[in-house]
Amino acid sequence: WLYNEPFRNQYHYSAQKNWLNDPNGLLYDDTTGTYHMFYQYNPAGNSWGNMSWGHATSSDMINWQEQGVAIPELENQEWEDFTYTNTTGDLAQYGEVRYVGKPTTNWGDGGENGKKYIFSGSAIIDKNNASGLGENTILAFYTSCFQIGTRKNDGQDGGLGTWIGFNEVQEQHLAYSTDGGKTFKQYSADGNETQPKALIPVTMMPEGNAKDFRDPKVVYDEGNQQWLMIVVSGQEAQIYKSKDLLSWEYASKIERQHDVGNGVWECPELIPMTVEGTSEQKWILSMSVQKGAPASGSGMQYMIGTMNAQGQWLPDSSETLKKPLWTDYGEDYYAGVTFSNVPDKRTVMLAWMSNWEYVNEQQTDPWYSHMATPRELKLVADSQATDGYSLRQMPVKELDTIQKETIQPALSTTNLDDQTIKVTNFKGTNYKVEARFNWTDVDKPSAVGILVRASDDLSRKIYVGYDIQNQLAYVNRLATGEANIGGPTRDKTNTPVAAPNNQVKLTALVDESSVEVFVNDGEKTISQVFYFRPEIIGNIPTNLVAFYAENGKSTVSDAKIS
Ligand code: FRU
Repeated sequence: WLYNEPFRNQYHYSAQKNWLNDPNGLLYDDTTGTYHMFYQYNPAGNSWGNMSWGHATSSDMINWQEQGVAIPELENQEWEDFTYTNTTGDLAQYGEVRYVGKPTTNWGDGGENGKKYIFSGSAIIDKNNASGLGENTILAFYTSCFQIGTRKNDGQDGGLGTWIGFNEVQEQHLAYSTDGGKTFKQYSADGNETQPKALIPVTMMPEGNAKDFRDPKVVYDEGNQQWLMIVVSGQEAQIYKSKDLLSWEYASKIERQHDVGNGVWECPELIPMTVEGTSEQKWILSMSVQKGAPASGSGMQYMIGTMNAQGQWLPDSSETLKKPLWTDYGEDYYAGVTFSNVPDKRTVMLAWMSNWEYVNEQQTDPWYSHMATPRELKLVADSQATDGYSLRQMPVKELDTIQKETIQPALSTTNLDDQTIKVTNFKGTNYKVEARFNWTDVDKPSAVGILVRASDDLSRKIYVGYDIQNQLAYVNRLATGEANIGGPTRDKTNTPVAAPNNQVKLTALVDESSVEVFVNDGEKTISQVFYFRPEIIGNIPTNLVAFYAENGKSTVSDAKIS
């Protein structure tokens, strides 16, 4: 393994040093057989700031090599001058506002030291040289976030108007690489690489708040032979279309109809998918929601629709936007987006395992946070779901390449009752465990499940279980010794799942500081970070796996640990 610090995950990606958040620019380059992962990264510290794109490469999406900073934050030296009317946010009260200036010391500190941050976005490989920047150029679309002086444009003060203050602007930019992702150049229509012009300036956002216009995700619409870019703007998303990836035209917008908390939409994506076992095409609208997710704080949602030639996303029904489906039910699954150009047309999503709600309380040093395991998504018919479809999510098959020996066969089938917790012979802290639980109506237990990261005396443990009475799959991290030290805030997170045949299958990916649970082969998922703190629980190993049934009897079958 690469690292051995306490809490350092082994098969989930983290940067050697410093803070990371959202995965960005996920892509497979088939000319070199390389997966690229870029991500929100602070090269200068272990908390959010100096936002740049970090970079890692892999041949299998599981084993990653860190490559250093791909797109560093930019100096903001030039004057900019444009007007915009914010329809939401603090500046909406002023009507038309002039953004003008150069956030240097002359203007006072622009709040971000006059830098232009490189916020989240996406990348594609331009196989047919649609852009004219070269065959197989990697195009990285990102949000430039900066502070700029703002004036109410009332013609006073030498024509500049009345000073309001420094305010944030977010615009969509392009950087590109002609050497397979090693180096990037900033693209600017006027050729000025040091002060690049926006590809989609804020003035191309028909309405909204200049400071919440971000996270461009680009995808090719094969049916209509055009590129589409979706960008959020507060409580809306805007869609742009293009044939050449350089000139973009406004196409349509999507308005949020379901308000969970007061957080903005972030990291949007339009994902073309074929319904399993049919030839039916759908376009999934995937969103990260900053606040109000089921486990609290930030989380991800998706909605089902289709795409037309005008670049309009059409929800499947009048309920689609009102009843979005949750992607994951844990606290720690956010800003997920899919890889572009994956072989076999698989849809593979990667997300960040943290939550903006608690993230400012630092947990680890000298790095902070990690990615989830890449998941293959499938769209299936589901009569319970809004519009009759839902996603199935399972770890990509490449994860098996790192799997180790499996559990002794004697324990792969076993009977459980409320008197005994069956401890397996396995010892370890990073592994995949799976098991199927069956019960009958006679002696029906109240809950069944797996204890992971359990100590010898079973006083410390995490429950990955199924509450039969309430039909809820759950993760319970009550006994980890984390109380009052920050980090994830919910002891118990859960998701409704039915068990119609008195059976449930649980799969858990366990690592040094996180667990991802897949219920019934990915019908629902729960992702949680945890920390077994030696200073609280003592220096005891937490490396056992056990199976349990509470208040009744169950059988475990097909149990595997690897
Ligand atoms: C989501 C997010 C994005 C933004 C980025 C900044 O986690 O807030 O909307 O681009 O993080 O780091």
